[in-house]
Amino acid sequence: MVLKTDKAVLRALRGEALEIPPLWMMRQAGRYLPEYRALRAKAKDFLELCLTPDLAEEITLQPIRRFGFDAAILFADILLVPLGLGQKLWFQEGEGPRLEPLTVQKISALSRGQVIERLLPVFETIKRLRKSLPAQTTLIGFAGAPWTVATYMIAGAGSDDSGAARLFALKEPKAFATLIDVLVDATVDYLVAQVNAGAEVLQLFESWAATVPAESIAEYSIKPLARIVEGVRDRAPDVPIIVFPRGAGSNYLRYDAIGADALSLDAHVVLDSFVGMLKTPCLQGNLDPFRLIAGGKALEDSVRHIRRAMNGRAFIFNLGHGIRQETPVEHVEQLVRLVREKAA
Ligand code: CP3
Repeated sequence: MVLKTDKAVLRALRGEALEIPPLWMMRQAGRYLPEYRALRAKAKDFLELCLTPDLAEEITLQPIRRFGFDAAILFADILLVPLGLGQKLWFQEGEGPRLEPLTVQKISALSRGQVIERLLPVFETIKRLRKSLPAQTTLIGFAGAPWTVATYMIAGAGSDDSGAARLFALKEPKAFATLIDVLVDATVDYLVAQVNAGAEVLQLFESWAATVPAESIAEYSIKPLARIVEGVRDRAPDVPIIVFPRGAGSNYLRYDAIGADALSLDAHVVLDSFVGMLKTPCLQGNLDPFRLIAGGKALEDSVRHIRRAMNGRAFIFNLGHGIRQETPVEHVEQLVRLVREKAA
């Protein structure tokens, strides 16, 4: 079959094992880059960066110019969907996201009706990026998975154990199920609109897969993600979808059964013993972000190991979680050289 495109990321996502794996990094646009910090200092707040197409386009391009990654990820945030649903959202300087916490009444008032209208700047950013990105660079759109987004919507902030959402789901199961349903529908609308604007690949972030209660993982995480994959494919059949269930442990096998085009592996997945069990056509990820901070031999050993373990398999090189802000830019340059060396 002749492929319409020779972009490396799209080839890997169609199941092709490339000798040199394509490379991008989660959170590749952000605070470890001096040029990001300079723009950030001039803006009113983080949301202004996400919702001003000129700024979001420029920030998305910054790591591409510097490192020539094979993919650009749209500069935005998973919490824009709650904003589109009408929930108040702000970013507390130095602390992270804050939302006005949801109640049972507020959940019944949520409506997906205005999500697209409220997030129009995001689609404008995507349109511009398709014109400004180099021809070989793939543009990735994204959204949060319903469970992960719901944990922030209910607590009004991030937390390590998602305790507020877990307790709410136990006390108010009907309202919680409604919230997950609203998020599934709104997320499908939002992702399809990203594709219509020009996104070539979509990634779903289940960043809090580790906190889903065991007896509810099907209801709160696996099925909602499968519904999103199916809903997007109905309306945008050719767009590959990457699922990233960070911290899923042995439950990676359940996420593997969703039928996504790629599964993104966190840094805790032991490749040699586990990868053979996964049936998803393409894999991504696994480099420990702390090895990128350390650099030198710590980085070299791991890049070589990952490349060897993934040899012969469709694979996209990436971190096991987002790059941390204390990461030296020179170590990212070292990573690019190591991944693009010929022999694994
Ligand atoms: O480069 C990229 O990856 C694209 C942009 C992107 C951001 N957030 C920008 C951002 C993406 C894909 C996200 C996803 C996101 N946002 C997730 C899932 C991925 C993950 O890391 O697990 C989550 C949980 C969020 C919610 C969120 N946004 C939190 C918890 C925080 C605060 C923590 C932090 O790192 O500051 C944010 C803020 C945020 N999102 C920043 C960036 C660059 C930092 C904002 C700043 O400059 O102050």
